[in-house]
This record gives sequence, C-alpha cells and structure tokens, in this order.
Amino acid sequence: MSVSVKDVAMRAGVSVGTVSNVMNRPAKVSPQTAERVQAAIDELGFVRNDAARQLRAGQSNTIGFVVLDVRNPFFTDLARGAEDYAAKDGRSILLGNSDQNADREAAYLDLFEEQRVHGLLISPLGDVSDRLARLRKRGTPAVLVDRAGEGSASSSVSVDDVAGGVLAVEHLVSMGRRSIVFVGGPITIRQVADRLQGARSVAAAYAGVSLEVIETGALSVIEGRRVGGLILSRDPADRPDAVFAANDLIALGVLQALNMQGAIFVPNEIALIGYDDIDFASAAVVSLTSIRQPSALIGQTAVEILLEEAADPSIATRQVVFQPELVVRESSSRSLPR
Ligand code: RIB
Repeated sequence: MSVSVKDVAMRAGVSVGTVSNVMNRPAKVSPQTAERVQAAIDELGFVRNDAARQLRAGQSNTIGFVVLDVRNPFFTDLARGAEDYAAKDGRSILLGNSDQNADREAAYLDLFEEQRVHGLLISPLGDVSDRLARLRKRGTPAVLVDRAGEGSASSSVSVDDVAGGVLAVEHLVSMGRRSIVFVGGPITIRQVADRLQGARSVAAAYAGVSLEVIETGALSVIEGRRVGGLILSRDPADRPDAVFAANDLIALGVLQALNMQGAIFVPNEIALIGYDDIDFASAAVVSLTSIRQPSALIGQTAVEILLEEAADPSIATRQVVFQPELVVRESSSRSLPR
C-alpha cells in the first residue's frame, strides 16, 4: 500500500496542505515544521508522485467552483465555507455560476481548465464525470459538491436528500396534515428528485395521506409565488393543508403569496416547510420550518478533500454524505385535530 501525503501529515501532526507546502513552497513553512515533515517522509518512506506534480507545474493558487445558482443563499453559504478553508492553505476561490444552464457550465469548465486552477469544485447540472476524468488526467483534481458521487471516479460531498424528503413529510403528517403538495423543479435536478422520492415514500406509508406534485421551472421565489397564487385560486375545499417546497426560496415565495395576496394563513390553514435553512428562513414574516443542510461544512469538506487529492493524486476518492436536520419554526407549528 503506497504511503500517502495524508499518512505523512498524520505522522508529522500537520495538515496535508502543510506537507504540500514543505514539498512545493518551503519558504511558507518554519524550519521546525519542515524538519518534522521531512522526518515523517523519511520514516514512512514517502515518495511523491512527481509525474502528476510536473503535470500540474505552473498551476495557479486558485480553486475553481461552479455552482448552480449564485442567487440562492445556499450556494453562497457553501462557497463561504469553501473560501474560509481554502484561505488557510493560502488559496482563493474563483466562483462561476452555471445558472442551471449546461452551456454556461461547460464554458466555466473550459475557463478553469485554461486557468490551470489548482483544483475544481462543481455542483453539476447533470453528469460531468467524463469531463472531470479528463481534467484529472491533466493533473487537476475535481470534487462533486452537493451531489453524491456514487462510486464515480470523483470524490463527492453531499447531503442525503431522500432522507431530507422523509423528514419533511414525516413532520407534516405528525402535525395532522394529510393533503400535501410538493412544489419544486425542474425535477431533472437530482436534489429535487431525491427530496420528492423521500416525500413519496412517506406519503405511501400512511393511509389517508395524499401527495400532489406541482413542478416549477426554477427553484426561485418568483416560481413559489406563482404556485402560491395557484393554490389561492382553488376552491377552499380543493386546497392542500400542507406544502413541502423543494427549497427555501420556493417556500418563501409560496408564503408571500398565501399571506400577502390572500386570506390563507400559514400555518393555520396551510403548514409550510422548505429546504436548506438559509438565513432568510428564520427571518421570514412567519418563521419558516426547513430541512437544514450544513452548507458551510459541505464547502469546507469539499476543499479539504480537494487539497488532499491535489497533494497526492494516488489517494483514494471519498464520498462524504451528511445527514439533513429538521428545524421546526412557526410555519408548521400548528397541529390539525385528526
Ligand atoms: O440548487 C437547487 C437546490 O439544491 C438548492 O436550493 C439546494 O437545496 C441544493 O441542494
């Protein structure tokens, strides 16, 4: 089993980034630390993968990060976590917004490859495994963010969104809600599809619980408001008693429509739950119940893995999956008598 940079770091009691600095940027390390790391290298018989390092020669000090939608605070929180961790290693993040557009995503991948970034993080629109494999061949590691890698050649950091959908609908059912609407889309977005899968599995498990799906064209406040208006336009007898929104932006839009345009009050008539737990959720006029994702931790973990792989391309890929958390607030706090 070959000795990895991580083994050297553990033995010397330093970070992987420090081992990388000792090998590539010795001026950034104190003589004492350099000595400790060199001793660990000698003791373990570590031999760096010089071929990959040469491929990376002249790489910039930046990490490229392609996100799906910079307007969504979930991704800026994620990017912030990544940025804080990268800064500890003396690196910065270059943020690209695919805006859920495949051509823009491809253009950013081209740009970051031409920039010879130190590594790449991406919240992909679809399947980018071939493209990431080509990057890796050229010595640029890549980590999937907010998307499970499922044994792909790339490492990944994500949240179990099926479990998140289960948490959301279990909570609504426990609050006496039986006619539930799932609002979100496009359902081709993997995170949305997984949340819906979790929601469906719970609805199927309870007699008398119905789950209607209203697909949206985007995960935005505007689309949430549009669907909220649709619900308002229904005959009261045809309205749901709960809405599970695929993310907080949709939920905030539904809330605006129900509370500002009509006489339907959340949570009395309709319980509402979102997903991500962005800052606006707790600050909403009716504080929003949400499924929390550890967004900053996701970003930080993705950079940690990326730096390890940049320092030692022979290291095995990792699939890190965090668990979501239910955060109950006012918007689902009223229980219906059953
Ligand atoms: O980008 C769509 C959604 O997926 C975001 O709101 C966030 O929940 C991500 O996981």
